[in-house]
Amino acid sequence: MAPALDVQRVRKDFPILARTVRGDKPLVYLDSAATSQKPVAVLDAEREFYETSNAAVHRGAHQLAEEATDAYEGARAAIARFVGASPSDIVFTKNATEGLNLAAYAFSNATAKAQHGSRVDPRFILGPQDSVVVTEMEHHANLIPWQELCAKTGAQLRWIGVTDEGYLNLDELDVIDETTKVVSVVHQSNILGTINPVDLLMARAHEFGAVGVVDACQSIPHMPVDVPALGADLVTWSGHKMLGPTGIGLVWGNQEVLEAMPPFLTGGSMIETVYMDHSTFAPPPQRFEAGVPMVAQAVGLGAAVRYLEDVGMDTVAQHEHDITGYALDRLEQLPGVRIIGPASNVSRGSAISFVVDGIHPHDVGQILDDRGVAVRVGHHCAWPTCRRFNVPATTRLSTYIYNDNSDIDAAVEGIVAAQEFFGVA
Ligand SMILES: Cc1ncc(COP(=O)(O)O)c(C=O)c1O
Repeated sequence: MAPALDVQRVRKDFPILARTVRGDKPLVYLDSAATSQKPVAVLDAEREFYETSNAAVHRGAHQLAEEATDAYEGARAAIARFVGASPSDIVFTKNATEGLNLAAYAFSNATAKAQHGSRVDPRFILGPQDSVVVTEMEHHANLIPWQELCAKTGAQLRWIGVTDEGYLNLDELDVIDETTKVVSVVHQSNILGTINPVDLLMARAHEFGAVGVVDACQSIPHMPVDVPALGADLVTWSGHKMLGPTGIGLVWGNQEVLEAMPPFLTGGSMIETVYMDHSTFAPPPQRFEAGVPMVAQAVGLGAAVRYLEDVGMDTVAQHEHDITGYALDRLEQLPGVRIIGPASNVSRGSAISFVVDGIHPHDVGQILDDRGVAVRVGHHCAWPTCRRFNVPATTRLSTYIYNDNSDIDAAVEGIVAAQEFFGVA
């Protein structure tokens, strides 16, 4: 059993949580699936970097450039350690969305190059005879890049459906077959909270020689994840959802796959040799980090993972599980409230979507906001998932290490107040 989390002590590390909103209401922040708040350690690390060592990395012969490069590569090593990976397999991107585009563009770039006679790895060449497989619970970030890839190459987009309970319909695994070139799936859904058996999906992808991609945006911040052990070829996630700064995301890649992939963004810092008419590219991860990268953000994210390591990811996961169980129980006891996603605390994380009979989710969100409770409303960038459940939108509460049951109580009181206000109690 992981040690219990001292939430009151943790909260002191997050200055924003001390503020009030909407007049004098204490802030109850239940929107960490959108972005997490940042501890002082992360803010300090970024400021200290700018105050002492700011310089462009991997160039320049001066001391600051050396220190900045050490700080940047040190952050890469810390993040790699956090997910059980080797630093050379970690690529910095702007966010997970860019990471997923990096993956999708590897295929469209390889396909276009092959059409013009360049030698590329055939795994990345797509045509009308091929398929790309996602799920019906993808964030748009892991759907639209693949839709675009299919539009450019003529490949067919397929998906694995979702059951009424909010789990992946594993009876539909056979959409992954000998035509499949890519399987790209979310580890933990941002709208339903469902945790998917990605090892199973990746194994099926590999059975047919497809490249396996995992969107781990909502899992890595909340539970221990040994990234190489997921069995994927590429895994992507964002720093800002795991206490780190905005403007930084990660792609972990199997080295052999990264080496076979054409670059996404091109320019300075990602090259080996440059002539007027052609260039050769640096090995990964530099091949995928064109231009001056987000150095201060990497340093901030390095501090974030050290903070999470100090708390302990087992402790984080246990805390999230307990608070999710409490929230599910409380919501279930409210008449007129329907959870969209797994109603039991099995194979699910802490993002909980729900609808309230007779009240539009935006109105629920507004009444909660009036009381200082910050939740997300809308389709959560998972519009097809909303359609699957015949709802235009949901209200979503999502927690992290700085939340406790009193925050759930505040949300529940707000929902009851909304029901009374709209006369649907
Ligand atoms: C599951 C999932 N995938 C991808 C993303 C996109 O992340 P970002 O906006 O940081 O690129 C999100 C963001 O909410 C997400 O929850």
